[in-house]
Amino acid sequence: MPAIAILGGQWGDEGKGKVVDYLAQRAQAVARFGGGSNAGHTVINQHGEFRMHLVPSGIFYDHVTCIIGNGVVVAPQVLLEEIDLLSGRGVDTSRLFLSDRAHLVMPYHVLLDGLEEEARGAGALGTTRRGIGPCYVDKAARLGIRAGDLLDRGAFRKRLAFVMEQKNLLITRLYGREPLPLEGVFNEYCAYGERLRPFIRDTGLFLEAALERGEWVVLEGAQGALLDLDFGTYPYVTSSSPSIGGALTGLGVSARRLEHVLGVFKAYSTRVGEGPLPTEMEKEMGQRVREKGHEYGATTGRPRRCGWFDGVAARYASRLNGFTGLAITRLDVLDELPAIKVCGAYKAGDETMAHFPASLPLLARCQPVYEELPGWQTSLGGTRRFEDLPPRARAYIKKIEEITSCPVALVSVGPQREETILLRPLF
Ligand code: IMP
Repeated sequence: MPAIAILGGQWGDEGKGKVVDYLAQRAQAVARFGGGSNAGHTVINQHGEFRMHLVPSGIFYDHVTCIIGNGVVVAPQVLLEEIDLLSGRGVDTSRLFLSDRAHLVMPYHVLLDGLEEEARGAGALGTTRRGIGPCYVDKAARLGIRAGDLLDRGAFRKRLAFVMEQKNLLITRLYGREPLPLEGVFNEYCAYGERLRPFIRDTGLFLEAALERGEWVVLEGAQGALLDLDFGTYPYVTSSSPSIGGALTGLGVSARRLEHVLGVFKAYSTRVGEGPLPTEMEKEMGQRVREKGHEYGATTGRPRRCGWFDGVAARYASRLNGFTGLAITRLDVLDELPAIKVCGAYKAGDETMAHFPASLPLLARCQPVYEELPGWQTSLGGTRRFEDLPPRARAYIKKIEEITSCPVALVSVGPQREETILLRPLF
């Protein structure tokens, strides 16, 4: 009955794709539960280097079934492009399934995402402009189009006509833009529906049966706890729940199935888009880490802002999700640094804070309280066992465990699958 959830503990881009790819070796299914093509992960393996937005990282294993769950918002053209790219490079995609309940990103979502960002002016959120927010808005407003809807042309046309009338009013009257053509969108999505037909099914039934058979299912997160709609740095968040609640509702899997909840953290912090990053590094150090870690967004190519490890935010993410273990990625990016800072608390005026506040003005006043640890200044890339890490790198990992009160289960010291150190068995 075991499910293992892999969740981002920071602001996304923690390297979840690599961790899922590593764990998928032992799993029978990998199921993505939230977000959409705002996410992007890079997987490097024997087939080459792949940047994917929607297809779960388990697709490279013949024994793994991949699920795109009901909680994901799917841009059909992006999904089809990924399927074509994978098939073109010899990867079998017949084990990929899309939930009939997954909502579809429509052309008006993408258009409105851009128009809303422009309307926000200086207060723009820095969204990926992939239509994610407007798609989740329609889901909550009960105006969404779901993957399964594409399979019944008559019903789809009726629903689309109703929804697009409203969207076009918004586009023309509020934003003064040209309306989108109903026929064009209808025909485009019917064509996607025909191509996606073999992939669309009730994926919840499949997952339940797999878990009942005792198979390992990896629940693959996108984004991270600090981008969570409820718990992140609102309004600078995404429109879904990248936390454990989202993993369950985004797949229709019961909480009773969970065996592990693994929180993925970079050995430092990054954030792309606007919003607070309390431990943001000074310009020169940020630049150094960005270049060493190639910290540019996989979806938008935007440079990521870099910061030190934020223990306050990490404790918060751990509490929200009930992490049973942590995966620390990109430890090797810190190889050359003479000293490494770790934030264990915030200071706002005279008050020392151990908790992550909801209020952004308060968060803006928070100054990180740092402890400085000596760097190991040697390459970690070839290390495969925790005992073989230099003592200073081990001390850094121990410090993260101490701050978060959570055991580290896995450390990644490079982008390749084998550049992984397993500290505790996960299966
Ligand atoms: P949206 O999800 O496109 O609406 O963007 C909202 C915020 O979430 C922006 O700050 C994005 O940069 C951020 N975001 C969304 N997806 C990811 C991701 O996969 N990694 C990092 N940041 C993301």
